[in-house]
Amino acid sequence: MSYPYQLKSIEAYRAAYKKSVEDPESFWTEIAENFKWRKKWDKVLNWNFKEPRIEWFAGGKLNITENCLDRHLETLGDKPAIIWESNDPEERTRVVTYERLHKRVCQFAQVLKNNGIKKGDRVCIYMGMIPELAYAVLACARIGAIHSVIFGGFSARSIADRLEDTKAECIITCDGAYRGGKDIPLKSVIDDALVGNNLVKKVIVYTRTRIPVSMIKGRDVWWEDEMLKVTDTLPVEGFGDAEVMDAEDPLFILYTSGSTGKPKGVVHTTAGYMVWTNYTFVNTFQYQPGQVHFCTADIGWITGHSYILYGPLSAGATSVMFEGIPTWPDAGRFWDIVDKYKVDILYTAPTAIRSLMGYGLDPIKDKDLSSLKVLGSVGEPINEEAWNWYNEHIGKKRCPIVDTWWQTENGGILISNLAGVTPSRPSWATLPLPGVQPVLVDENGKEVTEKDEEGFYKGNLCMKAPWPGMLRTTYGDHERCRTTYFATYDNLYFTGDGALKDEEGNYRITGRVDDVLNVSGHRIGTAEVENAINMHASVVESAVVGYPHPIKGLGIYAYVIVTGFHGDEERTRQDIVQTVSRIIGPIAKPDKIQFVTGLPKTRSGKIMRRILRKIAEGELDKVGDTSTLLDPAVVDGIKEGKL
Ligand code: WTA
Repeated sequence: MSYPYQLKSIEAYRAAYKKSVEDPESFWTEIAENFKWRKKWDKVLNWNFKEPRIEWFAGGKLNITENCLDRHLETLGDKPAIIWESNDPEERTRVVTYERLHKRVCQFAQVLKNNGIKKGDRVCIYMGMIPELAYAVLACARIGAIHSVIFGGFSARSIADRLEDTKAECIITCDGAYRGGKDIPLKSVIDDALVGNNLVKKVIVYTRTRIPVSMIKGRDVWWEDEMLKVTDTLPVEGFGDAEVMDAEDPLFILYTSGSTGKPKGVVHTTAGYMVWTNYTFVNTFQYQPGQVHFCTADIGWITGHSYILYGPLSAGATSVMFEGIPTWPDAGRFWDIVDKYKVDILYTAPTAIRSLMGYGLDPIKDKDLSSLKVLGSVGEPINEEAWNWYNEHIGKKRCPIVDTWWQTENGGILISNLAGVTPSRPSWATLPLPGVQPVLVDENGKEVTEKDEEGFYKGNLCMKAPWPGMLRTTYGDHERCRTTYFATYDNLYFTGDGALKDEEGNYRITGRVDDVLNVSGHRIGTAEVENAINMHASVVESAVVGYPHPIKGLGIYAYVIVTGFHGDEERTRQDIVQTVSRIIGPIAKPDKIQFVTGLPKTRSGKIMRRILRKIAEGELDKVGDTSTLLDPAVVDGIKEGKL
């Protein structure tokens, strides 16, 4: 494959950026020409941010899996599409060539059809990181079913909410999953999620851990049995036809947290998402044919969707998929994988880097990391210390680091340096990709034109124009999409992040300005955690804020009012943690719970989170003016009890 749209110099980047702003339609036409279409589009872009309505390549017909699989068969058929590394370092590697991946996807697509799934149906996928997860996702895309992958760290209750919201009739899962030293009983969690659900007609279960599972007649079927019915010898042409999709047909729904208590289903559509993940993959990482790309994210998150599956596969790359965790059985796991598969591009998260830094240099000592060419970071601002460690000990100062800023809603990378092409700068995401038009605004939506005392423009990060990979709606509730992203400021998409900009137009992301926390790179809404805490029988009220955590980035700090302790304080604390784990999932467990007798509220009853944040951060003398509070004395009590 060649990528005529790969930007190989800073001049090329500048020229492309200029063109993308001045003439987006011809800019994206030239790029989209490089994909496989059943029918070309009628109109490159229709949009308004009022409704909002965003359409890219309208009238175009295609199937994204033909772009990720079929078009590579002739030239890359015997090349690895996916290299799978087990949780268990002793277990055999699975190398899935493009030919094999194509075949498995076509076969599983047929299994889905045999089980009554058709275009437009929603399919929830709750699996560990095994190749079958990739087959399941791509098979949905093959037949035009809308996939919604649910991360393995979510509880039955969270799954039930998502099932209800998507109205899914099919779930694909495993008996269990391995993650580090743990075996997670996925099917049993699904069974709990299905209590009271009468929409789901089929549960397809792949065997991974072979723990006993309950299989309900008529509803639950084994993946392996279903695959056998789709004969291995039948030529793929016999059943491999991909559904022809409209450019704007939904490809997937992915739930993410926001300011309210209920996660929203971000909807991505087919053509724009495909073009965007491919374009950003090829340019940000400066991918060269034949390279091995290792993105350490889980496919339960957007990073896995875009940079394990769709981006790399549409570019014909080899994508490493790792089932386990970086610290099991020891903290050398990532480096073993880099060494073993001669990884060229490593894309991981600051929280992983910080956690590995804590193990010192021993786990790296005997590992050959010389294959590495590019390092990437995503998920939260990368602090300078972690950046420097990554640069020195992993990249050996030879590898450019791309600090890629983006969001679930964005489909792919929006602001990042391009590896070795545009300059990198510790803790700065730097420049927008072509097609991305950021603007910093003040609270009233006015563009910030004055620099602050440090010489930076500082404001809330918005986008002035659409890019092909942006969300189109939130599933089942378009109005929610409008009010969340397009109503804060007139005619702008609001990201929820704050940022600084320098004179040269480089951006530094400072973090969320809304009530969303980035905990170990996972997005968690404070309102969601509060709702879960409030479910506990003894809890009267709670308020949740983030505080700086050396590894997680942010930790979860909860201030809780209870009617009394059951047992003792510590027991009650554990019960609350357990409640959150049940309601949302282990990823949302509070790190600290402080019992308080009151919360700082204004006279109108609004909780002053700014004060709680300052206390959680340990800045007790910086809580500021408390005179507008209903009862200023509560603040002193909270300060005294700080954990
Ligand atoms: C944060 C992950 C600083 C940001 C792809 C954003 C970052 C949220 C960066 C989205 C980065 C992501 N620098 N902050 N390079 N990348 N973020 O939806 O606050 O899981 O709004 O998407 O992560 O998280 P999400």
